[in-house]
Amino acid sequence: MKKKLLSFLLATTMVATLATGCGEAATADTGADEPAATTEETTEETTTASGDQTVGIAMPTQSLERWNRDGSYLKEQFESKGYAVELTYSDNKIDQQVKDIEGLIADDVDLLVIAAIDGESLSQVLADAKDANIPVISYDRLIMNTDAVSYYVSFDNYTVGKLQGEFVEKQLDLANAGDKTYNIEFTAGDPADNNAGFFFNGAYDVLKKYIDAGTLVVKSGQTDFDKVATKNWATDEALKRMQNILASYYGDGKTKLDVALCSNDSTALGVTQAIESDYWGDVKDVIITGQDGDVANLANLVDGKQTMTVYKAVANEAVATLDLGIALLNGETPDEGLISAAGWNFDCAYDTESYDNNVAKIPSYLLVPTVVTKDNLEKELVDTGYYTLDANGYPQATN
Ligand code: BGC
Repeated sequence: MKKKLLSFLLATTMVATLATGCGEAATADTGADEPAATTEETTEETTTASGDQTVGIAMPTQSLERWNRDGSYLKEQFESKGYAVELTYSDNKIDQQVKDIEGLIADDVDLLVIAAIDGESLSQVLADAKDANIPVISYDRLIMNTDAVSYYVSFDNYTVGKLQGEFVEKQLDLANAGDKTYNIEFTAGDPADNNAGFFFNGAYDVLKKYIDAGTLVVKSGQTDFDKVATKNWATDEALKRMQNILASYYGDGKTKLDVALCSNDSTALGVTQAIESDYWGDVKDVIITGQDGDVANLANLVDGKQTMTVYKAVANEAVATLDLGIALLNGETPDEGLISAAGWNFDCAYDTESYDNNVAKIPSYLLVPTVVTKDNLEKELVDTGYYTLDANGYPQATN
């Protein structure tokens, strides 16, 4: 309770200092770099609250860009409040992640924050966490088939896909397409990642009526999630699959590919490479979607090779996880009230219905994603402090 009040005071200070309103994106400083603990009470309270507690953070891999940002934001956040942090990366290897989490439990961490590689493979190790009374926050990706997960912090994953679908709908003015037809191919994420289905469905649900009506044509016929999924979200997998599709269905030098709907940036990168190397037309004439704001993809945005990315401010995801984590470490049972008590200067919904991990509906804190294109990139990503522009005008991440 005391801590909630503290978070509120801290957040209020941050909001006042930065003079940003509710619903605006927090700056990177707000999110992570600049601990707002400036008052006497704050320092004292932080020390008392954190004591010698340790937070174990298990991230999937450093080979996908965003998790490097998540790991360092989370670490900075918890350390800035006086907690010790153990951070592991498991090289996208499921067994390795199980071992890493076993190690964190053996080290007596007081809280686990986990972004699972495979949402279905942590039941056993999390049973051990539960036996050891360690609360578990499922971070970004929902962990399935376990009663050990206390909470889920993520972005609204369905909305990420919906934004991609709506972007395509608007770009092509599909509602007024008349007899015009457009060719589209889908590339989705890793089936082991519970998010991947949400992203795909969010996009597909928007576009389905146009596919049914024949306005959008999927030449490959691949519209099932299982068919379009990409193991490990790997760039080279997405590249190979798109090369095959291009050779088989777009190889005649005249069949146009209008849209490559990609669920995220690592897959969009491979798809873009395939289109550049193996397609008769110009990559700049293909609408290519993505998600995350990876540096290589933002460069492609600037160059007109990728059309949009859905940006998720992981700095804010870390802030939400911090306040939730503190409440759990203090033995509280947070609910919707955490959002107003914390006073975050970004939007967040509390949802107790949407995320069912096959054992229970997991209470979720869901942040709001943003569409980024070449046109608003500077406003959304540079002015907010998440990226700077290098001498050539390409965005570079600030953390
Ligand atoms: C995340 C995405 C990311 C993908 C691959 C998903 O779980 O939500 O932001 O692109 O994993 O790293």
